[in-house]
Amino acid sequence: MQIGIFRERADGENRVAIAPPTVKKFKQKGFDILIEKDAGDRAGFSNQEYLDQGAKIVEPDQLLGSDLVIAINQLPPARLTQLKRGAWVAGLLESYKTDFTSYASGGINAIAMELVPRTSRAQSMDVLSSQANIAGYRAVVEAVAQYPRFFPMMMTSAGMARPAKVIVLGVGVAGLQAIATARRLGAQVEAFDIRPEVKEQILSLGAKFLDLKLGDTNGSAAGGYAKELSADAKAQQQAALTQQLKKFDVIITTANVPGRKAPLLVTEEAVLGLRHGSVIIDMAAPSGGNCALTQPGQVIEKSGVKVVGHLNYPAMVPADASLFYGNNVFNLIELLLAPVGQQGSASQGQQNLVVNFEDDILAATVVTYNGQIRWKPQG
Ligand code: NAI
Repeated sequence: MQIGIFRERADGENRVAIAPPTVKKFKQKGFDILIEKDAGDRAGFSNQEYLDQGAKIVEPDQLLGSDLVIAINQLPPARLTQLKRGAWVAGLLESYKTDFTSYASGGINAIAMELVPRTSRAQSMDVLSSQANIAGYRAVVEAVAQYPRFFPMMMTSAGMARPAKVIVLGVGVAGLQAIATARRLGAQVEAFDIRPEVKEQILSLGAKFLDLKLGDTNGSAAGGYAKELSADAKAQQQAALTQQLKKFDVIITTANVPGRKAPLLVTEEAVLGLRHGSVIIDMAAPSGGNCALTQPGQVIEKSGVKVVGHLNYPAMVPADASLFYGNNVFNLIELLLAPVGQQGSASQGQQNLVVNFEDDILAATVVTYNGQIRWKPQG
């Protein structure tokens, strides 16, 4: 069975869907791996490293007969239509906004990696977590680079630097890693989330919980995710934050509600209330931004405050992000391999992918199968 990996072509994308160590794992399962020439270049992997693990380096057209295409971003529509009927495609398919008709009509069986359930059993396949973890780290590194002062306290013969005061708004996977990274760098860290259960996790990382005194507002929804707050609760939160944010030097926002525009947490008034030299890292920029002034993909400055709207933090740590992504996909593809003994005459390189919709992970992620669209938007 042949796996094809195209070079990622999205703007600002440096990752590649599988790194050389993951090639080896697939090879051990009997797959042939074909990789577009230079696909790993921007992630820091040479063609030779892939060859050393047993992959073949090819031109893109040679990938069109693949049985399984693993990608990070969606393939261009023209590419998708060139794949053979019955081929599988696994990637981040932006299921909340994608019309899967072209997948189904082309006979493509599609696996949307962003739909892996947030359960213990699925943890090793959870690309959202592996990439958000990297993003949380890299966002803090970005804040350090943009901030005109030290993060840690420094006592030197030339003077003393006080520690930076950092607030993390939205404490999912990225937020937790942002807290941990900022703490490691010596900042004083506080954090806030509308899901009350997160308070304990914030405290366990040695940060303080910022109490906005929002009454009984509980933003918890099914599956550990947040729900959208009422208009009243949103206004209350924005007003409380506008007062509280003044005491911070660095604001890192990661607040998201699945399938919705990101909530506005930092108003223009709040930005104008910050000290000159403060930095806002808006990690929700791809979903509309948590800050009113965020410009997607840009760093802007307003009254001496920098607002950073980078769109793809995992792509800024491309080697490890690619390694983790590919390993997550490998772990999911293993679910599609029929157990030994049920392969019929299949031997090395010939096994079929067999889907069992009783499996909650496959039921959630296989969005098109045998010409049918299975994905139904939730809520
Ligand atoms: P996300 O990227 O969807 O959202 C980030 C954070 O923003 C969430 O913590 C959310 O509560 C918060 N948020 C939303 N609206 C807000 C507002 N108005 N103000 C402040 N914060 C707001 O979250 P992510 O990282 O995808 O995690 C979602 C959930 O899944 C979490 O509960 C996480 O612990 C859980 N999870 C469970 C896993 C497992 O059991 N295997 C693995 C990974 C995540």
